[in-house]
Amino acid sequence: MIENIKKQFEEFEKQIGNASSESDVLALKGSVMGKGSAIAEAMKSMKSLSIEDKKVIGPYANKIKHEMFSLIQNRLDQLERIKINDKLEKNKIDITHLDSISYDKKSIGSFHPVNIVQDKIEDIFISMGFEILDGPHIEDEFHNFEALNIPADHPARDMQDTFWFKTKNGLKRLLRTHTSTIQVRGMMERTPPFRFIAPGKVFRCERTDASHEMVFHQLEGMFVDKNVTVGNLIYFMKTLLSEIFEKDVEVRLRPGFFPFVEPGFELDIKCLICNGHGCSVCKKVGWVELLPCGMVHPNVLEAGGVDSKKYNGFAFGLGLDRLVMMKYGIDDVRHIHGADLRFLKQFINQ
Ligand code: DAH
Repeated sequence: MIENIKKQFEEFEKQIGNASSESDVLALKGSVMGKGSAIAEAMKSMKSLSIEDKKVIGPYANKIKHEMFSLIQNRLDQLERIKINDKLEKNKIDITHLDSISYDKKSIGSFHPVNIVQDKIEDIFISMGFEILDGPHIEDEFHNFEALNIPADHPARDMQDTFWFKTKNGLKRLLRTHTSTIQVRGMMERTPPFRFIAPGKVFRCERTDASHEMVFHQLEGMFVDKNVTVGNLIYFMKTLLSEIFEKDVEVRLRPGFFPFVEPGFELDIKCLICNGHGCSVCKKVGWVELLPCGMVHPNVLEAGGVDSKKYNGFAFGLGLDRLVMMKYGIDDVRHIHGADLRFLKQFINQ
């Protein structure tokens, strides 16, 4: 019996190396371990063997079985590696070889219109000595409200419907309702004079329509120095708008209330969609609120660590989506987040 097992094992050792696929290996396994194999026969006859024979044949058969198992597993692993290497070899791409990349012009992506306009505004402000700042979407009450002169009981908090939530450890947090939060962060990190803009997404818990979205884009700006005037503010705003629209646009300045500026203004632009006749974007008024702005309130300067007796400044909060809509004649703000490729592809060559 031992002789049979040994013979079959030697035969198996010779064959296993030639098994060239997983199914070959499994077939071989069946023939040396399955029904009718020397090992299976030995196991079957175990009952009828004498104790002495059992003591010899049992451990021997087990040992051979283990060796077979490990040789089978090794061969399977080896075949798997060969398969992977084969695949790698076949799919090798020479990335230095231009012909190996199929270069389909139609599949080139395009910039989002908000990014196109934002990049342009950044360039304009950089050329006027401004820094570009960024800030977190998740904010606390201090940065979104208190430091901007909007205490907890101030009615102005109702002007901005806020998404509130609590963190795991019970801290009250919100999704920033405006990019003015970055005024506070920007002031705290610098000493005057300074000037910066901060573009980004903002969030309001609002019903959506052609001119309102829950997520939209603003671009905050702040300029702090000695003896800054409303004239300086108007100059920068006009420069910005005429560069963006590449033509003279009609604007008007109205008094506006924002707790973080005094005096505060609303800078409106004549609706370029309907040319002032009235449409869904301008809510039939002919004018679109585009640039709320004003002279920074001393309380805000102080909250940001700026000496309000020495320094003053202006700030503005540009509605980026509205500006984009005006520039490209888009009549519904919901297209901006719609991710509709038919819409986005129109900006390929901008
Ligand atoms: N943060 C204001 C808003 O979202 C916009 C704004 C108004 C920003 C006046 C300013 C400003 O910096 O001076 O409604």
